[in-house]
Amino acid sequence: MSGNLGFENTDTILSENRIFAPPSDAIENANITAYMKSKGFDDYEAFYKWSLENRFEFWEDMAKGLHWFEPWQKTFEWTDKPFFQWFVGGKFNIVYNCLDRHMQTPVRNKVAFYWEGDEGETRTITYEQLYTMTNQLAKGLQNLGVKKGDRVAIYMPAIPEQVVALLAVARLGAVHTVIFGGFAASALSDRINDAQAKVVITADGNYRGGKLIQLKHITDEALQDTPTIEKAVVVRRLGIDVSMQEGRDIYYDELLKDIPEDTIVPCEPMDSEDLLYILYTSGSTGRPKGVVHVQGGYGVGVYTTTKFVFDIKDDDVYWCTADIGWVTGHSYIVYGPLMNGVTSVMFESTPTYPAPDRLWSIVERFKVTTIYTSPTAIRGLMRFGEEWPAKHDLSSLRLLGTVGEPINPEAWMWYRKNIGRNELPIMDTWWQTETGMILISPTIRQPLKPGSATRPMPTIEADVVDKNGVSVGSDKGGFLVVRHPWPSQMRTIYGDPERYKTYWETIPDVYFAGDAATIDKEGYLRIQGRVDDVIKVSGHRLGSMEIESSLVSHPAIAEAAAIGKPDPVKGEHVKVFVILRNGFEPSEELVKEIKLHVRTTVGALAVPDELEFAPSLPKTRSGKIMRRVIRAKELGQEVGDTSTLDA
Ligand code: WTA
Repeated sequence: MSGNLGFENTDTILSENRIFAPPSDAIENANITAYMKSKGFDDYEAFYKWSLENRFEFWEDMAKGLHWFEPWQKTFEWTDKPFFQWFVGGKFNIVYNCLDRHMQTPVRNKVAFYWEGDEGETRTITYEQLYTMTNQLAKGLQNLGVKKGDRVAIYMPAIPEQVVALLAVARLGAVHTVIFGGFAASALSDRINDAQAKVVITADGNYRGGKLIQLKHITDEALQDTPTIEKAVVVRRLGIDVSMQEGRDIYYDELLKDIPEDTIVPCEPMDSEDLLYILYTSGSTGRPKGVVHVQGGYGVGVYTTTKFVFDIKDDDVYWCTADIGWVTGHSYIVYGPLMNGVTSVMFESTPTYPAPDRLWSIVERFKVTTIYTSPTAIRGLMRFGEEWPAKHDLSSLRLLGTVGEPINPEAWMWYRKNIGRNELPIMDTWWQTETGMILISPTIRQPLKPGSATRPMPTIEADVVDKNGVSVGSDKGGFLVVRHPWPSQMRTIYGDPERYKTYWETIPDVYFAGDAATIDKEGYLRIQGRVDDVIKVSGHRLGSMEIESSLVSHPAIAEAAAIGKPDPVKGEHVKVFVILRNGFEPSEELVKEIKLHVRTTVGALAVPDELEFAPSLPKTRSGKIMRRVIRAKELGQEVGDTSTLDA
């Protein structure tokens, strides 16, 4: 987001994905209906309008559903724009709301997680057990010297201890930064160093889809270059032999072995605006940005949207198939469901392992009521045919959801027909790492339209505008923006407030999301994809520059450009163009070597599907590679006006 709005020609993005299927049934949603009724409304239109005019009343009502050690003095403050605060002066701990307050209610004995491992092994963890495990680890971390404000890195497989790690860190008032287990060593050390983490929590290793991931080994490599790390805590997930560095590394079970089960470490009463976590995500430069979320507002936003979007009911078995390494897992596996006291499924494996009915088999066995997954997973499973879901009894399901990338109407229809028995609503939820919570999604009594995330959540003033911030009106393409802050919005970029400001300055005075969108006559939003250098591969967010920096660190490569290309399953895949240094010749061998280099420096998710050796690359006069031009040429589109790029 370098202040240049020429990025992509939005019209060409818009030409894809414009099929409007007839609206399907409206949704009945008890939680939001009850709230609307309490305010005297019974249709979304009037309620939404009210919410824009009474946003503080709405969010105060929501915040009152949670426990505060001390009430806030002021709901919102926006004097130092674009920085803002919510629930100013309040004392809060999100973990108290996830665990402690349930200990006085029947939720105490409810299942928090049904966990299923890669090989089909299972564990059942109640809220009380999760509370005990969290307190024990909090004590263990305290014994290692972790205290309020310290940063703790979490690089773990999807096991219950991963959830416990987030909760134990936040309980102490420390700040977690979770790094997706698919990232390679240098991506891990970059993030640890940016956050200046003191402790890292990892595991010996794990299997995912039958493949061994050597987490401790990768961590060891990363820790060669991380001066701030004092301790590494290692969960024995597999019990394999790993090297343990004397004085630095300690097994999780050993850390806890002398800590009694009834140990209680009280939740640190945090200021609403104190940091809860830093989550690194990709942007337009090579350096990943540390998105900062805070305790109070984030808690309120995520609690509310979980309740309203998924219409949480007491006897739900809710399942978000994401990974906790991404924001979806933070908000909708850990914090949102736990604050709402819901029973969840947690899953360590992949949708196709050992067979393409893994997801449906879990739905049947655990009687899942709500499944929240990605368009990539759906498109991937579509390829295997309708017979796989048909083998299973999916009648427990009552609500479906998707997130992370645009869902094409064809995949939407397949999901609804084969998983939703042609009658279940699909919540297509639009949001971002930066937004912390779902901002656009169906909620109630809005007919659904395949491929549309429908309408904004209450109080969210989303619009589609031109580069001057003027609304484009219906059915014309433009940039997706939001006009007013919401509680769970990121507060800054860690250590880089200037970079944070660009979100509010690219288009004056509004939050610029980086997506192209259209809005139809009924106010339905259709998100078209990124207009910057962010590539969404299988819903995972990557930056062109991150891949390019990895490429040019290979001895054979002088210059490189990475772009996203439409992909029928993954949404987008990576194509790279490389210019070789003198003395190197293109070869199959070299292609393999370069791909391996990207895998070992960034991670498997960034490995290009296509690699082209190029004699030259289009550049601006100042020498910046023009990815937009490369992409347009590659896709056979109009290159458009390039003069603005000559800066
Ligand atoms: C894209 C993921 C279309 C979008 C929660 C956004 C979507 C980026 C949708 C953020 C959706 C997310 N329809 N596109 N329902 N949801 N996106 O930070 O491009 O990993 O800007 O957060 O994903 O990705 P992030």
